Amino acid sequence: MGENREGKKQKGNFIAFEGIDGSGKSTQIGLLAERLKKEGVCCYTTMEPTNAPVGSLVRQVMTGRIRMDNKAIAALFAADRLDHLLNEVDGIASKIEEGTTVLTDRYYFSSYAYHSVDVPMEWVIRANEQSALILRPTVNLFIDVDPDTALERIARNRFHQELFEKKSRLVEVRENYKKAFDLLAGEEKYTVIDGNQSREAIADNIWEAVRGYFGL
Ligand code: ADP
Ligand code: TYD
Repeated sequence: MGENREGKKQKGNFIAFEGIDGSGKSTQIGLLAERLKKEGVCCYTTMEPTNAPVGSLVRQVMTGRIRMDNKAIAALFAADRLDHLLNEVDGIASKIEEGTTVLTDRYYFSSYAYHSVDVPMEWVIRANEQSALILRPTVNLFIDVDPDTALERIARNRFHQELFEKKSRLVEVRENYKKAFDLLAGEEKYTVIDGNQSREAIADNIWEAVRGYFGL
């Protein structure tokens, strides 16, 4: 069970999967959700950017269809995140409050890592302060994969590459993740998982990292 920055206990576990594009986040979320289900823990899986209206706008920016200033892009992701948390239909803050476990493919560390390529990291952290106050992950799982491996996986499986899926950018983003985790080590829980292994080996490492949060 986690707690938010005001020290209030959170009822459900909230696990954020982080990593560069192609690191295997969505694959591992599926495997962890299955494993938890077998243990009798049902969970809600979700992702950012969301499929809600702000998230759809974000996706249009990412494909290059809409052009926008980098700070405006970072703020748009922060707005999508607040909607993800607080939306009255399926907001995850109330799911956690009700005791549901939530697994998310990306949360605010993605913003810290990706946007600080163009905007100072401190600025991005401040822009996400409200989300951090509302809901801090029980643990951030950083699936660390070599950028060449990630790009090979993406090339094998997708017809197009998005704006951020260039090697030099992924190298920088990976470094930024490490900087952000170092910077916030005092207030955030995180675990680094070696993502260069087989799907099954990664899933086993993740299971060992999280099972204690479920008393398993
Ligand atoms: P992400 O959600 O981080 O972008 P995905 O889970 O979609 O990553 O994985 C990217 C691609 O790599 C997918 O086609 C997936 O099947 C494949 N993949 C995922 N994990 C592994 C792994 N450990 N080894 C090889 N290929 C993998
Ligand atoms: P997506 O298609 O979901 O990629 P992936 O499967 O790799 O997660 O697109 C997410 C992209 O958006 C990814 O390149 C990272 C980027 N992103 C940001 O730049 N800032 C953010 O705050 C988030 C959540 C994602």
